[in-house]
Amino acid sequence: MSKKYLIMDVDTGCDDSMALMLAAAQENFEILALTCTFGNNEVEKTTYNTLKVAQALGIDAPVASGAKRPLIDPPMDFSGGLGIAIHGADGLGNVGDTLKEPVKEKSRLVAADLMAKAIKEAPEKVTIIATGPLTNVATFLVSYPELQDKIEQIAIMGGAAYSGNMRFYAEANVGHDPEAAQIVFMSGVKKAVFGLDATMGVFITDEEREEMAKAGGETGTFLKNCLEPYAATYRRLANYPGAVLHDSLPVAWLIDESVADMHDAYIEIDLNGIQTRGCTVADFIGITGKPVNAKMAMSADRKKVIDMHIEAVKKFADRKVLK
Ligand code: RIB
Ligand code: CA
Repeated sequence: MSKKYLIMDVDTGCDDSMALMLAAAQENFEILALTCTFGNNEVEKTTYNTLKVAQALGIDAPVASGAKRPLIDPPMDFSGGLGIAIHGADGLGNVGDTLKEPVKEKSRLVAADLMAKAIKEAPEKVTIIATGPLTNVATFLVSYPELQDKIEQIAIMGGAAYSGNMRFYAEANVGHDPEAAQIVFMSGVKKAVFGLDATMGVFITDEEREEMAKAGGETGTFLKNCLEPYAATYRRLANYPGAVLHDSLPVAWLIDESVADMHDAYIEIDLNGIQTRGCTVADFIGITGKPVNAKMAMSADRKKVIDMHIEAVKKFADRKVLK
């Protein structure tokens, strides 16, 4: 398998944690940097969470803090709401305090500058995996246009062709910063987009979480517990059969492209709609006359993705990660 050099931009986050675990388990993945954004919680918390989870997973990459707020919209209110219900007040399913305190400090660089440093120093092109609002990625693209050619592609968990989860037609990562998303989608960088159309099918059942805990030692137990409020909220709101591992799908696809059904599309972001601001408008049939600028996942193989996690977590079974 060919080596992949990665930067992961995250808003850790329970499903972000599962994506980090899946990526950290891959022998041919080299994680060069972790950059953090607001989204599931304020950036101070998502950065702290990322430091903790990265330490638990043995990810040696620098961790940088980034965007505190969207480019245009007002700062988010993290005092309640769906994101807090799903990810918990601490952003890690209210079990973040069971993980050992991080020893490593965050980088002195802000996210966009750490991305630039990592990309400049990488021996080959770098793949960016974005699993939060796209503010850091957009800031990097507008600050370092000369580095755009060293990006292999951006694999984005975000958007949806036909649904939404923060507004009727807007998915959270794109909807929390539509202008940032538009900068990313209008850039010339190759993009693979994993929206709700595909990710909503990638749920992990309670039984599979139990299996992950058995297979993964303290790490598996933490991840199982971290997803408990996530699963409970999806069950309460939509009688859903499990916690949805949105952020894992781009990682799983980079491991094995057969996990998702990808379709060429021209995608832009609706910035001005009243009900539709933050919507990813996806043209699969050339109706806009604009050139294809992304591949978009429209379905995924749930069992294959979940089995990847059960296999991956075994690599961490001997690590003592809990206080
Ligand atoms: O809409 C799902 C996305 O929003 C996921 O990345 C989840 O972690 C939240 O950030
Ligand atoms: Ca996320």
